[in-house]
Amino acid sequence: MYIHTIDNFYNSQIGEYDKLENNKLKVLGFAGSLRAGSYNKALLRSATDLLPEDMSLEIFDIDGIPAFNQDIEGDIPPKVKEFKAKIREADSILIATPEYNYSVPGVLKNAIDFASRPYGDNPFDGKPVALMSASIGLLGGARAQYHLRQTFVFLNMYPINRPEVLVTFAHDKFDTNGRLVDDTTKTLLRQLLQNLANWTRKLK
Ligand code: FNR
Repeated sequence: MYIHTIDNFYNSQIGEYDKLENNKLKVLGFAGSLRAGSYNKALLRSATDLLPEDMSLEIFDIDGIPAFNQDIEGDIPPKVKEFKAKIREADSILIATPEYNYSVPGVLKNAIDFASRPYGDNPFDGKPVALMSASIGLLGGARAQYHLRQTFVFLNMYPINRPEVLVTFAHDKFDTNGRLVDDTTKTLLRQLLQNLANWTRKLK
């Protein structure tokens, strides 16, 4: 009898836990850099520690997505299929990208292009999205962000406007283990994630 009661208590706790977990907003994050020591990958990892309570973040590595070729868009490679499924499952999207030659890195644009095809099967459609960038330069990847925002128009995504998380001089903001050590950036990132949660709930 005693054990039974404990069991019931335990099960009810599990039930509450499941409810909380099931009610969490699912965010899919990916970075526009493939390199192992990427500041943008590090920024995404840092987001995991700064999430609002009602949000979970899964990070997807776009490495391995082949170059898009419209001739094969009807026969999607497995990696792209996986990417599309993850996007579809997610309530919202979080992108961290460098700026290459004043614009969006080719690998990121390629991954987005591939996932958005074939026409009429765009899993980004209607998804809220938050954007951040890290650069070793003075503008923190701002130009890549604005170019990407243009792409969101055709994808029919709903980006949040503020705060603009532009991590300038990234080499000063992370330690040698890729941990974010800059408090101002942490505050901005926390606010970005909270705004993404609010925006996503509003649009649901
Ligand atoms: C860069 N970098 C760069 N930075 C910037 O602020 N504006 C730019 O236009 C460019 N252009 C550019 C082109 C190419 C091909 C490379 C490889 C780099 C520098 C860039 O900010 C730096 O390498 C970042 O560290 C790249 O981001 P990850 O890989 O650390 O995430």
